[in-house]
Amino acid sequence: MTNVSMTVNGKAVSHDVPDTTLLSEFLREALRLTGTHVGCDTSQCGACVVHVDGKAVKSCTALAVSLEGASVTTVEGVANGDLHPMQTAFNEHHGLQCGFCTPGMIMTGIDMVNRYKAAGKTLDEAAIRDELEGNICRCTGYHNIVKAIEDAAAKM
Ligand code: FES
Ligand code: FES
Repeated sequence: MTNVSMTVNGKAVSHDVPDTTLLSEFLREALRLTGTHVGCDTSQCGACVVHVDGKAVKSCTALAVSLEGASVTTVEGVANGDLHPMQTAFNEHHGLQCGFCTPGMIMTGIDMVNRYKAAGKTLDEAAIRDELEGNICRCTGYHNIVKAIEDAAAKM
């Protein structure tokens, strides 16, 4: 067991966990933040994406003990009173059906908008589809997810 301390959604947290604990397990089981979903556990589906120090990371690929002192944001932490513009856009554009992939899509969407804005680049439909390569949705056919991210990009 190792003690891990990090900041999650703005709050300091500290837990003793086995060294093999994945960040996704730490969030879901130690902290009960079950908005982060686990679809594959093999770094393919993107349902587990969170932000670590401001960057999108598949939380099933990171060991909790490697993130001592990190700042982690999960889908539970992006709303600030009102829904985040990305969450609103997914709602308005019907960017989800079963919702299993949605937390990862939201966190990936926010990350891509932030990166493109910081670089002064245009996030057009082709770029969004390219950026979504690591996020799998079995329900929607992606069209409304792409529309939602395009709309949120204009509002963020
Ligand atoms: S659960 Fe992490 S990529 Fe699928
Ligand atoms: S909405 Fe069901 S997997 Fe994407």
